[in-house]
Amino acid sequence: MNILLFGPPGAGKGTQSSLLVERKKMSHISTGDLFRSAIKNATPLGKEAKGYLDAGKLVPDAVTIGMVQEALKNLKGQSFILDGFPRNLSQADALETLLREHHLRLDRAVFLEVATDELVARLSGRRTCRSCGATYHVTGKPLKDGVHCDVCGSQEIYQRPDDQPGAIRTRLEVYEASTKPLKDYYEKTGQLRLVNGSGDLETIYMRIEKALEA
Ligand code: AP5
Repeated sequence: MNILLFGPPGAGKGTQSSLLVERKKMSHISTGDLFRSAIKNATPLGKEAKGYLDAGKLVPDAVTIGMVQEALKNLKGQSFILDGFPRNLSQADALETLLREHHLRLDRAVFLEVATDELVARLSGRRTCRSCGATYHVTGKPLKDGVHCDVCGSQEIYQRPDDQPGAIRTRLEVYEASTKPLKDYYEKTGQLRLVNGSGDLETIYMRIEKALEA
């Protein structure tokens, strides 16, 4: 089964994708992670994308769509989770074309619903491992020993530039204007499933599993 996991910034897309990857052996295509990796490696793509990410704005469609096209090419038959793409209506149309070209289909579009004040609290407290990308939260999911990444042991734990208050505000505005309309888009195609994204991680995971069966 191939799925899109979408929702506002901080809805838990990355967190739930990690669980799906671990338990269902799905491939995870996160445009945010791909951009952050390109920035870390100072590639031409990374240099182009950095300003947009830091400000909380969308990277231009042509760049983003090209990157997703490459990721779909490298799938090798695994089922996949799309996390962070599409993020506007023109990307959704482009995705349809890409899927057709690659003889793939999207089975479900799962939308994670979380209240705005909770999103802000999650994003402003998030910490990320620079080495492996694992995410934590200063109060909700702290590092086990307070210093090292639980997953890879790195001490390079940082706050994403776009998790600063100004960028969080911009991301929420961009979400309202560009990404939220995708709910109607996927409702019309019959692929939309709404999932309450508040609560503990396992409860949300179970809700997603149920939504995938429905
Ligand atoms: P991206 O990385 O996709 O950012 P995002 O959509 O804003 O999503 P986040 O990664 O912030 O949140 P999430 O929903 O994954 O939540 P998470 O699980 O981490 O994109 C970043 C940027 O890249 C964009 O702004 C844009 O510039 C660019 N970009 C990406 N895709 C693009 C596209 N298609 N087109 C153009 N540009 C694009 O959780 C957040 C926090 O909450 C964590 O601390 C976590 O521990 C905590 N948490 C998670 N679940 C729970 C829970 N149930 N209860 C309490 N806390 C929780």
